[in-house]
This record gives sequence, C-alpha cells and structure tokens, in this order.
Amino acid sequence: MSLSTPPGDASSTPKKLEGHYYVDDGELILKRDNQQFVVSADPAYKDQVTAWLARMAEGNADLSDLDPDLARQLSVVFEEHGFLADASDCQGLSGRDALLDLEDYTNELLYRTLYRNVFWKKIQSAPAEHISNNVIYGFVIENYHFLYRESWFDSPALCYAPSKQVQLLMNEFYGEEYGHDELLLKSLNSIGISRAEIQDTIPLRETLALCNSLAYWASYDPLFFFTTLGVLEGKDVSEDSFLAACDRLGLPASFVQPLRTHSDINLKGGHGCLSREIFKHVPFISSGDLQRMKCQTALFVQLYDAFYAAVWNHYSSVRSLLRRVSEV
Ligand SMILES: [Fe+2]
Ligand SMILES: [Fe+2]
Repeated sequence: MSLSTPPGDASSTPKKLEGHYYVDDGELILKRDNQQFVVSADPAYKDQVTAWLARMAEGNADLSDLDPDLARQLSVVFEEHGFLADASDCQGLSGRDALLDLEDYTNELLYRTLYRNVFWKKIQSAPAEHISNNVIYGFVIENYHFLYRESWFDSPALCYAPSKQVQLLMNEFYGEEYGHDELLLKSLNSIGISRAEIQDTIPLRETLALCNSLAYWASYDPLFFFTTLGVLEGKDVSEDSFLAACDRLGLPASFVQPLRTHSDINLKGGHGCLSREIFKHVPFISSGDLQRMKCQTALFVQLYDAFYAAVWNHYSSVRSLLRRVSEV
C-alpha cells in the first residue's frame, strides 16, 4: 500500500479503522484478516499518520483531524483496501458487551452439550463404585498433555498488537500458567508413572485436536482465542467437582494435593475472569466479527465436549493407562 495514490474525495463521514496496525522495525503495518500491508508514507507525514491510526483504532477520531490533502489520500487508499468503514453504518458492540453476548451463547451450548457429557455427569453424581480409578488417572494424563502444550496456544497471543494492556494481562497469565504440567506430573508420579514413561505416550486425538485448534486461533484470531480462556479456566466453577470425585473415591493426598494446588492457583489468580479483563480493553467489535466468533464458539464447544467424552470412553474401558509410542 502506498500513500502516493492520486487524491480523491475526502469524506466528512466519521470513519472507523477495520483491522489493526503495528510498527515493525520502523515500518507501519496494517493487518486485516490474514492480509498485511506496509504503509509507505512520506516521512514528513509518517508521525501524523501513525498518531491518526492510533486514535482511529480507539474509535475516537475521523479524517477531519488531518491536513485536507493527507485526508484525501488516506481516504482513497485505506478505503480501497478495506481498512476504513463508515462508523455510522458500522453495527457492533463494545468489547465488553460483545463478550457478554458471546458468553450467553457459549453457556447455552455448554448446557446443551458439555454439562450433559458422560464424563461430567458421572463425575458429578455417580456413586464412587461406578467410577473407575482409570478414568480419574486418565483425565490427569490427558490434562497433563494439554498443559504440556499450553505454550503452543498462549505464546502466539502474547504480542496482541492493538492493546498494551492486553499484552500485560496475557504476559501475567503466561507467567502464572508456566509449569502447571509439572504439578500434574507430581500426581502421576504418585501413582507410579514417571516423567520418562509419560514422555513415551501420545495424547488422545481429541486432546490434540483441542490443542491444535487453540494454537491456530491464538495465531490467526487472537480475539476469539481470548474468549476461550474464560471457559478453559473455569469462569463459573467455584467448586472443583473433579476434586470432589477424587475425595469420594478416597484417592490418596499424594495424588490429589498437586491437583488441588493447580485448582487453587486458578481460583486465586482469577483466571476464570481473564476473558472479561481482556475485553475491557477492546473498544469495538463489529457485528461481522461477533458473528464469526459465534461460529467458532460452536466448534470450540464441540471440541471441548469431545475431549471430555473421549476421556471417559477411552479410560473407562482400558486395562493399560499409558498409550506408549514405543509399543505402537
Ligand atoms: Fe493452569
Ligand atoms: Fe489457570
């Protein structure tokens, strides 16, 4: 993209920036969907253009803020490439309101699927004699595999360009999450599974599907990825029903305590509220973006539901807990 395009008519209609921008090695980059453009502005105007973009991204500036000639050029070039939309025509919500809307939709899906899932139904209410220890151990094994791969999906979202506050929240979260797989490994060690043995195993395909999907969203749609954190970190969970089941089964403290420590870190760190904290710093979400996120929410809940069902279906019937790579 170049600002040397012939001037056109500057619009007096308030505009909103579509996509986002960042500065990389002195270059001004615009990004929308999976496309990015370098803005090769005249050096004399570069600071003015950058400051204008910053205000547009916050939704509080329009082209009338600029020198008229520069405004005309920006109007033509940015609109031609789909980076500007008329604010007056743009339907949407604040980040916080959009997230609340999405949470309602997510809860509806969770109540229809995950909360009726065989794993959670049994864990929450089945008598101890109807739950095999292997299901409990299997859940910790799969959760270990998930947490071992957590950096796949947390790290790509650390550098969320449009907001410094979101970067700070994600960095703090990353620091608090780091090493949680080691807590689960302590539980597994207590039942005789060593680090070398777990490293010789493969996760269930449903566990990997969840990890891979989250890694994809964190890289290509971080805004949507942020919405999944509230669900993954248990926004609505005040009592950990899995730990309650461990107590019902009378599992030893050496197995349960590391799991309780992990659960307490989530509760005390307020990880379940992270999505809401992040979306306080997202000024605007268009109705198109919200619609896209709803479609992805349906897929995410389906994957999450499949993950728990697979834990029950696989581990309630197997004799050997470990799916060893060396034996395949
Ligand atoms: Fe964790
Ligand atoms: Fe957490």
